[in-house]
Amino acid sequence: MADNAGTGDAAFDVVVLGGGSGGYACALRAAQLGLTVALVEKGELGGTCLHSGCIPTKALLHAAEVADSSRESEQFGVRSTFEGIDMPAVNAYKDGVVGRLYKGLQGLVKSRKITYIEGMGRLVSPTAVEVDGQRYEGRHVVLATGSTPKSLPGLEIDGQRVLSSDHALRLDSVPASVVVLGGGVIGCEFASVWKSFGAEVTIVEALPHLVPLEDEQASKMLERAFRKRKINFEVGARFAGVESVDNGVRVSLENGKQIEAELLLVAVGRGPVSQELGYEQVGVEMERGFVKVDEHCQTSVATISAVGDLIPTLQLAHVGFGEGILVAERIAGLDPAPIDYDGVPKVTYSEPEVASVGVTEARAREKYGDENVETITYDLAGNGKSQILRTAGFVKLVRQKDGPVVGIHMVGTRVGELVAEAQLIYGWEAYPDDVASLVHAHPTQTEAVGEAHLALAGKPLHAHG
Ligand code: NAI
Repeated sequence: MADNAGTGDAAFDVVVLGGGSGGYACALRAAQLGLTVALVEKGELGGTCLHSGCIPTKALLHAAEVADSSRESEQFGVRSTFEGIDMPAVNAYKDGVVGRLYKGLQGLVKSRKITYIEGMGRLVSPTAVEVDGQRYEGRHVVLATGSTPKSLPGLEIDGQRVLSSDHALRLDSVPASVVVLGGGVIGCEFASVWKSFGAEVTIVEALPHLVPLEDEQASKMLERAFRKRKINFEVGARFAGVESVDNGVRVSLENGKQIEAELLLVAVGRGPVSQELGYEQVGVEMERGFVKVDEHCQTSVATISAVGDLIPTLQLAHVGFGEGILVAERIAGLDPAPIDYDGVPKVTYSEPEVASVGVTEARAREKYGDENVETITYDLAGNGKSQILRTAGFVKLVRQKDGPVVGIHMVGTRVGELVAEAQLIYGWEAYPDDVASLVHAHPTQTEAVGEAHLALAGKPLHAHG
């Protein structure tokens, strides 16, 4: 197929620009549906998620959990000595995980007969992408160029003392102390890792709470747990400036406070990669640097779609997968349903984890009115498995009065795994009684999900009511 490229014919059914979660999912699904596909990638297939996001950070978080287990083993009557973190060995483990998944993904793309084009691509027409002087035509073009760490005006990320998450993943030693700017998902996950690895950590968050997009009760529970772990944080505190001092940085806040540390991690969000790629020239409508799309991920140009972190939806790898699949199916002539973004599960993989699906209590009150919202919070103190793991936390349900469960919010060790059941409950618009009648396995943490529904259905078992 690539041989025909440059003739002006639509050589491919789809040309995908960017091989991250959104782009490669689109390419794989399109090929599965019998379309001819070209996939253009300038770096490594797999993008941010595989190489500098979800996968390597979760490997670090797992190493952090192992460190905590060995440090705290006496609590369980197991004698061990925690000797320290061998960062090169942690990195070798992390890189090994990434390497195996990378190899598998390359094999998958090859086996689906996708034409893989290595190089920097640029949109040159509504139906063409150019890579190194070669033009690749497609009936459809899918933009999937992703996102990159943002900074603040005047704050230069030098990769030495002031880091982005990309640099933070590649440290060859554990810093003695770190200031983490931004108490969102990236900030809380790195704070959690570094604390477990033995660093002194301070998070600075401008909004009143950590993980501010989550239900306020979940944010408060995480804050309580972080306080117990001696992770420092300043909330409602805006960054004012940073200067170099001997062996590190001095960070100033607008409230006058100053914090010194070896490193500053900037985790104030990720911005779209959309500049100088030809998007505007070809007529693709943009919004604050994001590509604007309709609910089927179609841009203002009929032949061009866009997916993943490049568009203004939730910046999550699994959202990218979903959007990529949706676009492939639409192009193939199927009639896929739009994504219900409230139904997308969100997990912050810190210790403890925060997991949620659906709307927060505050959002439900806005949406349905105060009198039409019911909530219940089931404390993990009553859950056997959580006590065995020695975790504190809760499962909170938000329900539309006399209606289905519209939000599930959880905090605690390993609760990220519970979000699978939570998303079915939300997605299938279950009523508390529907879930209350399902017998949950004992002793598991999923029982806490069952118990919360029993309580909301007016028949609590291991809870007062
Ligand atoms: P974020 O938007 O989640 O958090 C950034 C935080 O920085 C916000 O809470 C914001 O209020 C704060 N902030 C902004 N300006 C500030 C200032 N001047 N002073 C103090 N605080 C300030 O972005 P984050 O954590 O960088 O993550 C980027 C994206 O990657 C997010 O969309 C996130 O969902 C995604 N991601 C998802 C993960 C997961 O699902 N487990 C893991 C890591 C990232």
